[in-house]
Amino acid sequence: MTARQDPVSRSILVVDDDPSILDMTEDLLTEAGFEVTKSASGEEALALADEREFDVVLSDLQMPGIDGLDLLARMRERRPDTPVILMTAFGTIQTAVSAMRGGALDFVTKPFQAEELLVSLERAFERRALEEENRRLRRAVARSSSFGELVGKSPAMNEIYAMIKKIATNRSNILITGESGTGKEVVARTIHFTGARANRPFVPINCTAMPEGLLESELFGHVRGAFTGAHTNKKGLFETAEGGTLFLDEIGDMPLSLQGKLLRVLQDREVRPVGGTQSVKIDVRIIAATNQDMNQAIEEGRFRQDLYFRLNVIPIRIPPLRERSEDIPVLAESFLRKHSDDERIRLSDAALRKMMRAPWPGNARELENCIERALALASSSEISASDILIPDDVTPNDGTLQEILLRMALDQRLTVRDLTDAYIDAALEATHGRKSEAARILGMNRRTLYRREERHVEPRKRAGNFG
Ligand SMILES: Nc1ncnc2c1ncn2[C@@H]1O[C@H](COP(=O)(O)OP(=O)(O)OP(=O)(O)O)[C@@H](O)[C@H]1O
Ligand SMILES: [Mg+2]
Repeated sequence: MTARQDPVSRSILVVDDDPSILDMTEDLLTEAGFEVTKSASGEEALALADEREFDVVLSDLQMPGIDGLDLLARMRERRPDTPVILMTAFGTIQTAVSAMRGGALDFVTKPFQAEELLVSLERAFERRALEEENRRLRRAVARSSSFGELVGKSPAMNEIYAMIKKIATNRSNILITGESGTGKEVVARTIHFTGARANRPFVPINCTAMPEGLLESELFGHVRGAFTGAHTNKKGLFETAEGGTLFLDEIGDMPLSLQGKLLRVLQDREVRPVGGTQSVKIDVRIIAATNQDMNQAIEEGRFRQDLYFRLNVIPIRIPPLRERSEDIPVLAESFLRKHSDDERIRLSDAALRKMMRAPWPGNARELENCIERALALASSSEISASDILIPDDVTPNDGTLQEILLRMALDQRLTVRDLTDAYIDAALEATHGRKSEAARILGMNRRTLYRREERHVEPRKRAGNFG
């Protein structure tokens, strides 16, 4: 086993109020190559454990003052990674059970055979080495699977990380595209907060949320008296973002007339407030985002091509979650930690498998909502597959084909007649209209099939959307 440690470094703290047992155990363990520290009480043991780390603690159960179970409980708090083995001369099932419940790794009964103790210790060291290895791996994974606020370890996400690093110091405009919930805003924030402008403002604005006139004065500012209600001069968001980043969210929804004005600002690198005569020089990086197909928007005349070219200097496309399922486990884990303080909370393997198979039309946002719901539903610290609710949960592995079909039929509120007719149609199609063959598949008398066919031409058309 490769995880095993070098014997020289294997330290044991032995705790017992009986000096003869202490000495005897010390001899035995030193002989076996361990580095032994003795302690005559629970109190002393805790003080020692506070000072340095032991690989394993081997403690008597019954001691005056802090006894073995107390010591175990306190060790779990202070050094949760240090395995504790308890020993007692009065081994009862009851004490063994409470020891294990309290988190003891093992339980040995005195007088113990040397062999028995050594086997138990061996297990403890293996466990410890394994846990260390897991921690190291988890750390390594955590390093490569996140960047800024972004989580994900797929090649696509790693490309995005690399791109963000590359553009950290320049001012080129960026256009982020991706379906709803793929993390466009998180990417925008990460670009800003890991880049050279991090200590200047990050100013987001949603271009959909406002009527055109208001959006214009929000962006560019206005001077007093520019329109009714403009009682004072007002700085626009371009000026507010000076030196930093302006995030134009849902840029695809920006009204056409405003697109022209924005284009001019980007060309001249200056803004003129609504109603004003003076222009103000600006130094702002623009990050725009959209979930629309921009080429289509341009074709349909909803978006200016020249503005698109200005914005799309650096394109960042975030693929939908279903195309990077490697990200699902790390995202799920990070959402778990984000929404629960309970470190014991885990996803069962079955829950994870179910999530890996789901299509996630709402992408990471939907996954996050699903995890939040699962946390509310879970009845133990392990989230099970049934806690994971996925809408339109029709995955091929989820029930028999018949069950899936029936569920779909119920969803569509199909009548028995719809179903029968659709099935007959399907059989006829599959047999290229050979009625006797179709009748065999359907388990139907050929004549009945002929008769039905004559009667149900119309209903069949209606049910044609099934299947
Ligand atoms: N890679 C990611 N790492 C961490 N969290 C993410 C990631 N992607 C998305 N999220 C989380 O998912 C949610 C949705 O992300 P965000 O708001 O950035 O999506 P969006 O692409 O802007 O969606 P929309 O188009 O609907 O505005 C947020 O809660 C965000 O924290
Ligand atoms: Mg968004």
